[in-house]
Amino acid sequence: MKYGYFDDDNREYVITNPKTPVKWINYVGTLAFGGIIDHTGGALICKGDPALNRITKYIPQLPSSEFKGTTLYLRLKQRDGYRVFSPYFVPTLDPYDLYECHVGLGYTRIVSEFYEMRTEVTIFVPLGEGRVIRDIRITNVSDQPVEIDAIPIVEYTHPDALKQFNNADWVPQTMQSKAYRDESGLVILTQYPFMNKDTQINYLTSNHPVSSFESDRRRFLGNNEYGTWANPLSLHEKELSNYEALRGDNIAALLHHLGTIQPGETTGLITQLGQDESVEKALPLINRYRDAEQVEQTLKELAAFWDTHLSRLQVETPDANMNSLLNIHNPRQCHTTKNWSRYLSLYQLGLGARGIGFRDSSQDVMGILVSMPKEGKELIKQLLQVQKSDGSTMHQFNPLTMVANEGDSREVEGAPKYYSDDHLWILLAITAYLKETGGLAFLDEVIPYYEKDKEEHPLESGTVLDHMHRAIEFTQSNVGAHGLPLLGFADWNDTVNLQAGAESLFAASLYGKALLEMIELARHLGDPEAVAQYTTYYGTMKQRVNKHAWDGEWYVRYFDADGSPIGSRSNEKGQIYANGQSWSVISGFAPPDKARTALDAVHRRLNTCNGIKLSTPGYEGFDPAKGGTTTYPPGAKENGGIFLHTNPWVIIAETIVGNGDRAFEYYSQINPVAKNEVIEQFECEPYVYPQNILGDEHPQFGLARNSWLSGTASWAYQAGTQYILGLTPTYEGLQVNPCIPAKWDSFKVTRQFRNAVYQIEVENPDHVCKGVKSVKVDGKEIAGNVVSVFGDGRMHQVEVIMGEEA
Ligand code: NOJ
Repeated sequence: MKYGYFDDDNREYVITNPKTPVKWINYVGTLAFGGIIDHTGGALICKGDPALNRITKYIPQLPSSEFKGTTLYLRLKQRDGYRVFSPYFVPTLDPYDLYECHVGLGYTRIVSEFYEMRTEVTIFVPLGEGRVIRDIRITNVSDQPVEIDAIPIVEYTHPDALKQFNNADWVPQTMQSKAYRDESGLVILTQYPFMNKDTQINYLTSNHPVSSFESDRRRFLGNNEYGTWANPLSLHEKELSNYEALRGDNIAALLHHLGTIQPGETTGLITQLGQDESVEKALPLINRYRDAEQVEQTLKELAAFWDTHLSRLQVETPDANMNSLLNIHNPRQCHTTKNWSRYLSLYQLGLGARGIGFRDSSQDVMGILVSMPKEGKELIKQLLQVQKSDGSTMHQFNPLTMVANEGDSREVEGAPKYYSDDHLWILLAITAYLKETGGLAFLDEVIPYYEKDKEEHPLESGTVLDHMHRAIEFTQSNVGAHGLPLLGFADWNDTVNLQAGAESLFAASLYGKALLEMIELARHLGDPEAVAQYTTYYGTMKQRVNKHAWDGEWYVRYFDADGSPIGSRSNEKGQIYANGQSWSVISGFAPPDKARTALDAVHRRLNTCNGIKLSTPGYEGFDPAKGGTTTYPPGAKENGGIFLHTNPWVIIAETIVGNGDRAFEYYSQINPVAKNEVIEQFECEPYVYPQNILGDEHPQFGLARNSWLSGTASWAYQAGTQYILGLTPTYEGLQVNPCIPAKWDSFKVTRQFRNAVYQIEVENPDHVCKGVKSVKVDGKEIAGNVVSVFGDGRMHQVEVIMGEEA
């Protein structure tokens, strides 16, 4: 059973059966304005912030057959009334002759045929714009003329998305709608909570005269809402009621008589859903996008954006699935996670005070630097504003208000209010930015720390470099009994929450990696004192890790507050954790023999055909002393599930020790593109990485959930491009150091780097996994494997021969 196929030529995935196991989605626009379009046309749209400025009411928990946020109804005039159906299949569920949902880059196009009417709807947000456009084309493919009406509809939410569900008196008392009709019959139907009526209105409008409209859900569905979305009673009347709602559940439905369409004839309609201060303010742009040619042009601009975005790095390897992923789907997912952090998906609902995650976004930045370094820098700057003056950071923040919070630790009285990893990730993001762009001036930019006075003015500011130093010092001075970093409320693994005093091996290794970056930076900046200081910090931590944390065959993961290890063979459950091993290698803490032994233990104890489990064996019951991990059954999420984010770290570690065959085996077994073949088991979209897959301790082994917004995207992209294909930006230039399957003969990469294009051809005549024998740049052999910075806007040929180093 398959639900669709990849069309790489058009950079689309095409869903051909609308009854997918769960909704499959696409993202349109950005967090500034945009949201989710599901594969049956439903939409969750917001502007600036899903928590405080949400526009459509989309309830993911409702069954897939239900109306969610928006739809389009068509009705065909018949002798005895109307045939009403949705060309999106949902919510009317009529039998279809054709159904295709083209999941494209920044747009979704639904093509369907019902009752011999072919409908093609392209849904997108123009670049940098504040409106969702639906370009609707309807063709009569029957041999009879048909009289047709089109009724696009939106259901609104209160902008405060949580209040919508929390207060069913206040919200409906405030919700209002008002219609603006011009002489030609065009209608702008606005909606707002009363308090926003002069400042912020939502609207639905079109480019075709509207014969009537509805703004009240009860009237639209009819019979006190015993009419349904599948069969709204009002659509069996000639006209809607033209009611301007003064309270209640607000919708916008616009009834257009499109007239009689002859066989083979096509008619069209363009709708816009947007938000602005007022109708007057919105009108110029509304008029602009009422023009079909303009809409066409804007779609071309969107395609051009993606051409440019993707052209920054294109690969040609012997593996078709890797090519599809690295050339299209993985960078698109990285773009999405950079935009939405963990804020809004079908699984992360963006209600309340969740906001942008500090650690998540810091890692997301690393996935987009090839294509969007400027945007990466802006996000880094935003993140640094929620770093505290002691060097630690707030855990999450709201991007509209820049108010930050301490995440889940707020809910546990007496628990430490910081996470031991947050502030360290940003160091990796900043140094990655510097290496990608060479823009060292960024280090001197002054950014405030989070603490404010009574007037909300920052108490202290510091340069970016100062922020980095303080992050290091925070970990350096917050260590426990073994001299390892204190866990705080948690580290990367949010769900292991131990007593104050517990230590984290992961934080130790992340600290080690951050120190390596700081040493390299200090060296590059010519600061021998900092080099010496951080080298001492690094050496001391390395020594402590190897002294205390080596368990015989692998590294333990935590020391609890009483000093007992977690992630040790002495434990009954949770004996081995993947992160304890991968990060000991990434940090360089593990000497070669321990590195190999630990990674072999991962292969033996944690690897499955669906990916590497986070840990094993799973805990069998709730244990408040361990925290959230024990709320899951064995095999789910952080309790022995395949938490995909961690898999690329093992891949990276394997490339560091030179095992390209195993790295690639791990890479391939989680490649979502390959999941199209086992989709009944996998269930989620095969065009993006999910956050989690059920592990082999769970009866539904292989089932994916929480697609799209996962750090897997950024790390898998880094693992694929920088570690397997081995093209890594450094301060001095682009390093070429592949670690590939020995059987590969060759591969090619085109990569733009600091204003030049590098055309890289790698040959592997000796069939090694790793090792560079020679590098020629523009026909001349160079010493080493770092290709210099050209910055001349030109193309440069790089020929690499792999083999045993001379
Ligand atoms: C999802 C969270 O967004 C991320 O920050 C965390 O690292 C993982 N869960 C693991 O707990």
